[in-house]
Amino acid sequence: MTYDVLVIGSGIAGLMAAIEAKSETNSVAILTKGNIFKSNSAIASGGINAVLDPKNSEEIQKHIDDTMQSSKGLGNKKAITYLCKQAPHIIKKLEAYGVVFDRDENGAILQRSFGGGSSKRTCFVGDSTGAAITQALIKQARHIGVDFLVNHYVMDITKIENYASGVVALKRFDSSVVVYPAKAIVFAAGGYAGIYRGYSTNAQDCTGDALSVALRAGLSLKDMEFVQFHPTGFAKTSYLISEAARAEGGYLINSDGERFVDELGTRDVLSRSIFEQMRKGKKVYLDMRHIPKEILLARVPTLYKNAYNQVGVDIAEELLEVKPVAHYSMGGINANFTCSELNGLFVCGEAASLGVHGANRLGGNSLLEGAVFGELAGKKAKDYAFNKEFLPIDYNVVIKAMALVQRIFDGDCSKNFNAMRISVGKIMFNKAGIFRDEATLQEAFDYMKYLRLESNTLHCIDKSKNNNVELISILELRNALELSEAIILGAMKRKESRGAHHREDFPMTCKENNKHILIKELQKGFFKVAYEDSILVRWVKKILT
Ligand code: FUM
Repeated sequence: MTYDVLVIGSGIAGLMAAIEAKSETNSVAILTKGNIFKSNSAIASGGINAVLDPKNSEEIQKHIDDTMQSSKGLGNKKAITYLCKQAPHIIKKLEAYGVVFDRDENGAILQRSFGGGSSKRTCFVGDSTGAAITQALIKQARHIGVDFLVNHYVMDITKIENYASGVVALKRFDSSVVVYPAKAIVFAAGGYAGIYRGYSTNAQDCTGDALSVALRAGLSLKDMEFVQFHPTGFAKTSYLISEAARAEGGYLINSDGERFVDELGTRDVLSRSIFEQMRKGKKVYLDMRHIPKEILLARVPTLYKNAYNQVGVDIAEELLEVKPVAHYSMGGINANFTCSELNGLFVCGEAASLGVHGANRLGGNSLLEGAVFGELAGKKAKDYAFNKEFLPIDYNVVIKAMALVQRIFDGDCSKNFNAMRISVGKIMFNKAGIFRDEATLQEAFDYMKYLRLESNTLHCIDKSKNNNVELISILELRNALELSEAIILGAMKRKESRGAHHREDFPMTCKENNKHILIKELQKGFFKVAYEDSILVRWVKKILT
């Protein structure tokens, strides 16, 4: 099968891209590694930021300013302005596709406050906004004839010179390696916070496969050290407790019953404050007991249900223990307004680093980014593919992927990949997590190097070809280890604290470090680090020269 536009990923960014790329005459598909309803977007709970009136330039400017402020000097003003200005139109478009946002008695869309926002601008569907949006978009995509290649695991992209030509994927059904020639490719396959397994809100398979593919294709990853920790996950299961809980009036208290932080601060500040309490041996709880049960059931019904089902807590009457958890990756594939370093490859959503979050993302801006830049990537991919010929496939890449799969099936190995990926999560959280320093990062780096070597000798114990979960898990682990090294390397090179990246040995933000860190992998395990002035610094330099 060939496609004019092939989109990798079925979250909000991928769905928007595919819908936008589809015309009456072209062929567009979404390739996704599991089923289409499963994505990080689908678990994004609390809402999507937008000023609803496009003419309200004062409020739109506030949205821009809040986002810039939160990015701690690494935001790209042009991209942020585009994001915030497109937001009113995106909400209208989502409504047209069938999303029913919660409304007041007069029919106006309700909006709640999210951390770091100077106005109430987060639109929501209870506390399952992401699921409501992705379901509507899936329906729309199907309606207009987008194909879905489900249970396909992306392994690599093929290119000719600096032009993308196709996608190499593993069909989980029979473990065969297939190649899909495509005129344009959109990467919207999500981020890498799932690497922090056991300490992450993400599904366990959200470990940044697309970023590893980009590295292997010779592309740069940008600002990988910026991993956002959401202040509140269930202490026992890491399940996301939406900011909606605090927006609706929930408190954070410690085991002495004291409130210790402004609950609507930015996520970096809150996560550090909570973690500091925990380091002092205190527990931290979400307290919603003062909020009437009917409000809880109306505004945070999913949280209410899951607290009861997962940990047996009735939040209307009891405290819910929380911990900060890896939630979102600000780093990603380097790109400028969705155009990657490779012609014909467009990137958007969490997989991309487009400069709209900088060092710290505002809650409610991720669904917005996915929708706005997904739409843009889809438009660009459609235009790019129009009247183009298919380019040749580099079969060396396909043969390498087939050989890798064969190697994993062949041979015997008693090593336990599951124990390995659990230890990756633990080490990443403890040594490259909310607080880091040179020594902990070095330890983490050495450990990942060791595991990376070990992972080369992992084989499937189960040899069946039909939907072999072990095979996918080993491939994911190999990618996760590659990215862990990139995250740690970025964190080691950034000798300062900024946004979500906090170095205990360099607690201050340094103006001289107002730079992006770009990482390429020259050959397996050998990385090249480069620095790029932030847009702000480039602008100042231009004025001074
Ligand atoms: O807290 C939340 O509902 C998460 C939203 C987000 O990550 O934007």
